[in-house]
Amino acid sequence: MEKYVVFGGNRLEGTIRVSGSKNASLPILAACLLNGQTNIIHGIPKLRDIMVMQEVLGYLGARVDWDGDAMLIDTERVEPFEISEELMRRMRASNLVLGPLLSRFGKVKVSYPGGCQIGSRPMDLHIKGLQALGAKITEKYGYITAEARELIGTEIHLDMPSVGATENIMMAAVCAKGQTVIRNAAREPEIVDLQNFLNAIGASVKGAGSDMIKINGVKYLNPGRHTVIPDRIEAGTHMIAAAITGGDVQIVNVIPEHLEPVTAKMREAGINIEVGVDSIHVRGGKRPKAVDIKTMPYPGFPTDMQPQMMALMCTAEGTSIITETVFENRYKHVAELRRMGADSRVEGQSAIVKGVERLSGACVEATDLRAGAALVLAALAAENGTVIENIMHIERGYERLDAKYSALGARIIRVHS
Ligand code: EPZ
Repeated sequence: MEKYVVFGGNRLEGTIRVSGSKNASLPILAACLLNGQTNIIHGIPKLRDIMVMQEVLGYLGARVDWDGDAMLIDTERVEPFEISEELMRRMRASNLVLGPLLSRFGKVKVSYPGGCQIGSRPMDLHIKGLQALGAKITEKYGYITAEARELIGTEIHLDMPSVGATENIMMAAVCAKGQTVIRNAAREPEIVDLQNFLNAIGASVKGAGSDMIKINGVKYLNPGRHTVIPDRIEAGTHMIAAAITGGDVQIVNVIPEHLEPVTAKMREAGINIEVGVDSIHVRGGKRPKAVDIKTMPYPGFPTDMQPQMMALMCTAEGTSIITETVFENRYKHVAELRRMGADSRVEGQSAIVKGVERLSGACVEATDLRAGAALVLAALAAENGTVIENIMHIERGYERLDAKYSALGARIIRVHS
């Protein structure tokens, strides 16, 4: 089992570069299944989740090679094989093959990706969207089977702006007959990046980033080349790392507008943040002020930054109320932070966090990706040593976080036990 051992108390100083976005890369890799050609995607981060998606594509018959930071994905020989439960359970985003395989082959069978630590994560909105396009869906024995002789464009109104459902419907609709309109679509920057890749392979998609996306079906698709956007959640995590250690960090390879809700909230907490063209400079210093957080779909405060912001609020002056509205069970990190001396408790849908002067090191466990990141941040500021178990959760979404933070002066090592 890999773990991080962290000795807190050092200020982080220097420059850190953000990797490509995991949550933009995953749908774009799935979209490569659409054209049966060779696609070149630059800026793909080397993460566990990306390796799982690479395995899924390989299992389906795609050829996937790395060339530096670029991935070459040749999907000519792909077949709509049934994807095993074992593979599907390894990563929820494997459900993103549904739309592309249905579009290209008219049939697909996948097992439910399974819930995870942050919630049940159903797929009802994905299924309703594909059914609206004309797919016949059966759900039996934990498998979803979708079949469609022909997909026909239509208007789909999502009950809630689900990121994955928006992405699956977009991909299913690119070669459907006629126009598809998705209303109450998710507005995340990763949806815009998917639109840009789909258009690069010859699709006709407009409106991503707004709550209405229009897809005009096309007959043919061509090979694609694309560079994924920087990872806004990784960037936000580094902003908190600078603030919680009272450091001085320049974060580069960033699209600042993607981080506006995080920047606004951190400034409200009194953190000094300077925004550049493609960088953000964070200067910690005095103790942050407690602020209230309510997670919302983009452009609201991102749920994927809730645990990391909670770590900062654990050391803030005052009491903050943190309300998670996107997932029903995203507070597993509260118990772990309490082991480090945090004064926090969950009440209904909110967590009440009373800031303390200083957290103290402890043995803690990463329960999911962003909860694990929050523990790293808390450990960077805590006195004495912290051991973080189960860091494979963290490595699903962060490329060599130990190396990146060590380069800024943190005392963090990755050990195998
Ligand atoms: C994407 O997950 C991200 N993952 C998540 O990031 C992120 O937290 C989430 O969007 C919200 O922003 C990737 O992009 C790979 P949703 P996704 O469908 O698509 C409910 C990370 O840490 N829902 O927008 O699965 C669902 O249960 C990960 O990088 C339904 O009810 O999220 C949840 O409560 C964690 N029915 C809410 O919607 C459905 O059919 C948001 O889910 C689909 C979703």
